[in-house]
Amino acid sequence: MGTSRIAIFFLVVGSFIITQVYGDNASPKGGDHFSRKHAHLQKMQMFKSSILQHDSNSVSLILQATPGPLVYHVTSYGADPTGKSDSTDAILRALSDALKGPGNGFLIDGIVNLGGARVDLDGGNYLISRPIQFPVAGKGNLVIHGGSLTASTNFPNDAYLIDLSPASNNGSGYNYEFITLRDLFLDSNFRGGGIQIVNSLRTNIDNCYVTHFNTTGILVEQGHETYIRYSYLGQHITAGGDHGERDFSGTGIVLNGNDNSVSDVVVFSAAVGIMVLGQANLISGVHCYNKATGFGGTGIYLKTPGLTQTRILNSYMDFTGIVAEDPVQLTISNSFFLGDAYILFKSIKGVANGVNVVDNMFSGSDKGIDIVQLDQSNGAFNQVDQVFIDRNNVKGMKVKSTVARGGVQGNGSSWTVDFNSVLVFPDSIKQVQYTFIANGASFPVHALRNVSGNKVVIQTDVGVDASVYITADQGGTSFSS
Ligand SMILES: *[C@@H]1O[C@H](CO)[C@@H](O)[C@H](O)[C@H]1NC(C)=O
Ligand SMILES: *[C@@H]1O[C@H](CO)[C@@H](O)[C@H](O)[C@H]1NC(C)=O
Ligand SMILES: *[C@@H]1O[C@H](CO)[C@@H](O)[C@H](O)[C@H]1NC(C)=O
Ligand SMILES: *[C@@H]1O[C@H](CO)[C@@H](O)[C@H](O)[C@H]1NC(C)=O
Repeated sequence: MGTSRIAIFFLVVGSFIITQVYGDNASPKGGDHFSRKHAHLQKMQMFKSSILQHDSNSVSLILQATPGPLVYHVTSYGADPTGKSDSTDAILRALSDALKGPGNGFLIDGIVNLGGARVDLDGGNYLISRPIQFPVAGKGNLVIHGGSLTASTNFPNDAYLIDLSPASNNGSGYNYEFITLRDLFLDSNFRGGGIQIVNSLRTNIDNCYVTHFNTTGILVEQGHETYIRYSYLGQHITAGGDHGERDFSGTGIVLNGNDNSVSDVVVFSAAVGIMVLGQANLISGVHCYNKATGFGGTGIYLKTPGLTQTRILNSYMDFTGIVAEDPVQLTISNSFFLGDAYILFKSIKGVANGVNVVDNMFSGSDKGIDIVQLDQSNGAFNQVDQVFIDRNNVKGMKVKSTVARGGVQGNGSSWTVDFNSVLVFPDSIKQVQYTFIANGASFPVHALRNVSGNKVVIQTDVGVDASVYITADQGGTSFSS
């Protein structure tokens, strides 16, 4: 009875010790892997005998044998936290060891589960001259966190400080899964970009400050479900009204893939705040004041003509707007547009289908700027269906809508309401409802006679003093039963 209990006990403790062999990674200089392993085997032997002797100290030995956390401190690898000397090699060695750490089964097929191992930047600021590029593919469940990286003056302009594209890759499957980049300050020193994620699954970028990028702050290529949260991106460190705003360049975030999410993120300096090149991305709680539209900037650019499938919610477009090419399935709602910021639909092949722009607030400076505008320089929007732009509240700008309501009163036989100043699309009314109220005793015959040129004409067979109330709709899908 007692013996079997000890046996089980030992099995558990033994596996702790094996983990400890790999987990003890504080210093690569502390001897080679083999000798450390050897020392641990000796320790294990001692431990085994202590149990067999029913040593009264066994409880404290068990506590000591608790596996060491798999934390790879870059300072232990010789990285210089003062940012004076080049720490590229040291950080790469720490990362490389972390990626070689013990696997704990697999995540998705082909991705080794590293169990939450952490590369710890130890709160330092490190100078790097080459990207911290992941050397191998097929790893997951790893965290890099807690410090700053600054590009040196010879950092390549086409590279990223942290690069999740494997140096070697056999080209099949995802590169990484569940890699977390957290609590990082990334300074590209006006060379290259901040973070590149390539063909990876479930990547977290949390609480990162990415600045001085010359190309792109964060680039997401292919893959799925990169979640960028609680982060700040700006080419120049400014809090608005910057004298150099006209010259801001680069892009805060590029999403060239599907199913990503950007939430609670500020882009405070860049020519384009967020460039979307894939589908099913969610943008929420984003504050863009990267470069005013008046200076040629764009807050969010949806370059996904023909299939957009994007939701922009609860965001704050601050002097910079949204551009969408041939939007198909797009929702923009509950967002605040300040400083004459507006939404521009740019025709590529003339398609706008399934677009909801509702419940937003627009605020401007009485310059008569339309809240929604069309760029038809490539041709008119001629395939418009299910476009619903309505219920936006507007102050100091001009309301544009796909649903317009108007009334006219007069004595005669024809009543015309011109909706051009409100309706978004020229010469396109799909549905009309009207109410005809004859003032007085007459009982005329009345009918809808014409809707061309966004003007609705109601006529009667005889002259009569009447009021006419009209709702004209450009967006609704017509159906017949
Ligand atoms: C190629 O990579 C995939 C996952 O990235 C992995 O499952 C597979 O074993 C690799 N094949 C070779 C030959 O390395
Ligand atoms: C930054 O990018 C611009 C182009 O956008 C390029 O002309 C310039 O050389 C880049 N800066 C560096 C340091 O490479
Ligand atoms: C409407 O016009 C007709 C003639 O054009 C006139 O006889 C009639 O009094 C007018 N009704 C009102 C309410 O002004
Ligand atoms: C509708 O009005 C336009 C001008 O506004 C005119 O060219 C067209 O002939 C009218 N259609 C009908 C059926 O009266």
